[in-house]
Amino acid sequence: LLDPAAEAAMGHIELARWADHILVAPASADFMAQLTVGSGENLLSTICLASKARIVLAPAMNQGMWRNQSTQDNVATLTKRNIQLFGPAEGSQACGDIGPGRMKEPNDIALFAASLFESGILAGKNVVITAGPTREALDPVRYISNYSSGKMGFAIAQAATDAGAVTTLITGPVSLPTPLDVTRIDVISAQDMFAAAMQACSQCDIFIAAAAVADYRPVNQHSQKIKKGASDTMNIELTKNIDIVASVAAQDNKPFTVGFAAETEHVVSYAREKLKRKNLDLVIANDISNSAIGFNSDDNAVTVIYPDKEKTLEQRSKSQLATHLIELIAEQFHHLAG
Ligand code: PMT
Repeated sequence: LLDPAAEAAMGHIELARWADHILVAPASADFMAQLTVGSGENLLSTICLASKARIVLAPAMNQGMWRNQSTQDNVATLTKRNIQLFGPAEGSQACGDIGPGRMKEPNDIALFAASLFESGILAGKNVVITAGPTREALDPVRYISNYSSGKMGFAIAQAATDAGAVTTLITGPVSLPTPLDVTRIDVISAQDMFAAAMQACSQCDIFIAAAAVADYRPVNQHSQKIKKGASDTMNIELTKNIDIVASVAAQDNKPFTVGFAAETEHVVSYAREKLKRKNLDLVIANDISNSAIGFNSDDNAVTVIYPDKEKTLEQRSKSQLATHLIELIAEQFHHLAG
């Protein structure tokens, strides 16, 4: 909290805004007292004071401290403020006492934390998501690609699973861990991604195309490394890749299909044009001229384009944005399904 460099960047405020939920484990009697009076004397209490996120405490203290009237009054005040308690458990304590005050088991706390993200709005639905870049090989050591990190698509996959969906994530080459309970299919090129998407889509209810698919690939993929020639220039002939999301949306029994539109100008009108041309149900328009949002950033801000309206979601973490996007997608999906 007192690190001048971190303070200049307002680290505690950044963390307070960044968190989706705050879980304090172990929550000591002293910390609960700090929270009750709104103290901002350390990093944790300051974050809790500044954050709008839901706060959950996993109390851990001696049984006498837990039973003390001050602690019980603090518990009553915190509960009234919608601060949730998970625990404490009862049993033998580190000090030799027996009674209430033991912290719940870490596994149970992790499961409880995960359940806070579950909304159930896509329960039983199959959702397929594309993410990341594709790589279009020139020769065994070179390729054409882009700066997509996969963060947006991976966050959407996690949010879909949290909403109860059975989620398949088809991803180009990225260095991100697989979100919990998501089936991951790794691909390299646009052609690989197309094949995987068409197969996965035959069974899906919702298809979300967050991948930055290369629009073109080299006509010739050399089997040996291309040697430097005498000329100062080199021409590479490219051919168009098949449009994956448009192919999914062109099927007779198409799933509810959501595309992204990464634009540097006329963001909304270009995105609306993609909605019509690709026969999509929703388009999420991304202004990639701003480096704080879009490719490889931790945050994003988008405009959701519906056939008859638009909705703007202000800048926030990709994880928070993904949760909100899944809510909007689920709402429109259920609306169209009647
Ligand atoms: O991965 P990150 O670093 O987190 O960055 C996120 C993102 C900026 C990549 C993402 O939010 C995004 O905007 N993805 C779409 C990028 C893109 O390729 O946009 P586009 O306007 O060129 O394509 C429009 C839509 O068609 C997209 O849904 C795209 O997945 C799809 N498409 C494009 C070409 C193609 N051959 N097949 C496709 O399915």
